[in-house]
Amino acid sequence: MSKDKQAQLEKLKQAILANNVCPGLAATATNLVMGDGNTNADIVFIGEAPGKKEDEQGLPFVGAAGKFLNEMLAQAGMDRRDVYITNIVKYRPPNNRDPSPGEKKEFLPYLLKQLEIIEPKVVITLGRHSMEYFLPGIKISDVHGQVKSIQLGSDKLNVVPLYHPAAALYNGSLRQTLVDDFLRVPDMIQNLPEN
Ligand code: URA
Repeated sequence: MSKDKQAQLEKLKQAILANNVCPGLAATATNLVMGDGNTNADIVFIGEAPGKKEDEQGLPFVGAAGKFLNEMLAQAGMDRRDVYITNIVKYRPPNNRDPSPGEKKEFLPYLLKQLEIIEPKVVITLGRHSMEYFLPGIKISDVHGQVKSIQLGSDKLNVVPLYHPAAALYNGSLRQTLVDDFLRVPDMIQNLPEN
């Protein structure tokens, strides 16, 4: 794991605190949840926002949705330690409400900086909140499990939108769709378009 990347991510965390990002959320949250996993990963997963367990532990995806995510990673032959996992909004919204457009906008520059530091080959969005910035105006039901090459500033980025594990957890058909998409991830990584 790169010490330099860790140091840059720690600096980014300190910038979020110093810049008083989303003070309303910060006031009710226990922890700022930056991310977890391998900072040299080829894949970065981006969820929505921390829930109760994530807020308590300061780590993303450690509750029920996280357990499901870990299971799908394992089924696809991956491990949390091989990938990096974060959220678009890094404080828990009270009562797990949806993050507001303003909250997502405030955190966006920090998410983009996080990607700039990690330099993954592919970003996998989990659910519509993290998808909508990369693939605006697109329905997840039309594009889930497909590699999309997008322009991000002066660079191209591969994005794969997937359903959110929490939405799929208790919905039989969505759950199967998400599991099937996950099983195809290693193959997608092997065959990414040249950017
Ligand atoms: N759901 C998310 O989107 N992120 C988490 O970290 C946990 C649940």
